[in-house]
Amino acid sequence: MTIAVFDSGMGGLTVLHALQDRLPSRDYVYLGDTARLPYGTKSTDTVHQYARRAAAFLMPFSPSALVIACNTASAAALDLLKEEFSALPVFGVIGPGARAAASGDGHILILATESTVASGAYPEAIRAIHPGASVTQIPCPLFVALAEAGWTDGPETEAVIRRTLLEGGISLPFSGTVLLGCTHFPVLRAAIQNVCGPDAVLVDSAQSLADDVCGRLAEDRGSGKIRFFVTDNPDRFFSIAPRFIGREIASEDTELCRI
Ligand code: DGL
Repeated sequence: MTIAVFDSGMGGLTVLHALQDRLPSRDYVYLGDTARLPYGTKSTDTVHQYARRAAAFLMPFSPSALVIACNTASAAALDLLKEEFSALPVFGVIGPGARAAASGDGHILILATESTVASGAYPEAIRAIHPGASVTQIPCPLFVALAEAGWTDGPETEAVIRRTLLEGGISLPFSGTVLLGCTHFPVLRAAIQNVCGPDAVLVDSAQSLADDVCGRLAEDRGSGKIRFFVTDNPDRFFSIAPRFIGREIASEDTELCRI
């Protein structure tokens, strides 16, 4: 009863971490498509292709569910993958993230990759719940690099966040709901909170997705084992992974694959 999870790289480990907290005895197989990272600057057609290949790679593990642990791939390819892999439940981050954001108060600010913003998927999903919701979305292309470099706090990181928000037309301090619409962004949570101020309520799409999966899949008596696959540079993956999953990953658990 394996749960298959994929992301463009290591950001999806924040989703895996949240899933493991809730369903610790499940077995997992995780694919980080590090050869094609970032997805967040690519066109929809390209992300479709990548997402299809990633999902196809995971099918021989006979998963009981497929989790798209990437906002960009969820925004572009959830419907496509649901159609192509209709034999199993396919979960994406947009619906759960939108529900969490829509349940908050005040203006909703979505921080995401360029592709997720361009897709309009979050505003559409939020307005399907709250037609009158006041929503702004901002592309944050530098945040992924900050998260991967481990620059998760400090004045330089906060300066980048502040400038991104100000250039996006947000007045600071911000009062309302801030949706972390990219799986890399939870590691920047404290810095984003500092910049936005205490009246901003941060919502994490990774946590919301894990709640959703947990609500639909029962716990299992598996061994809690995780197999990690990456499409490039496993050494870089397991050196950076602890920032996203909160623990070390053994190098022998990480395998290079070609998809
Ligand atoms: N994992 C991607 C997301 O959640 C961010 C990294 C990328 O651009 O590939 O949108």
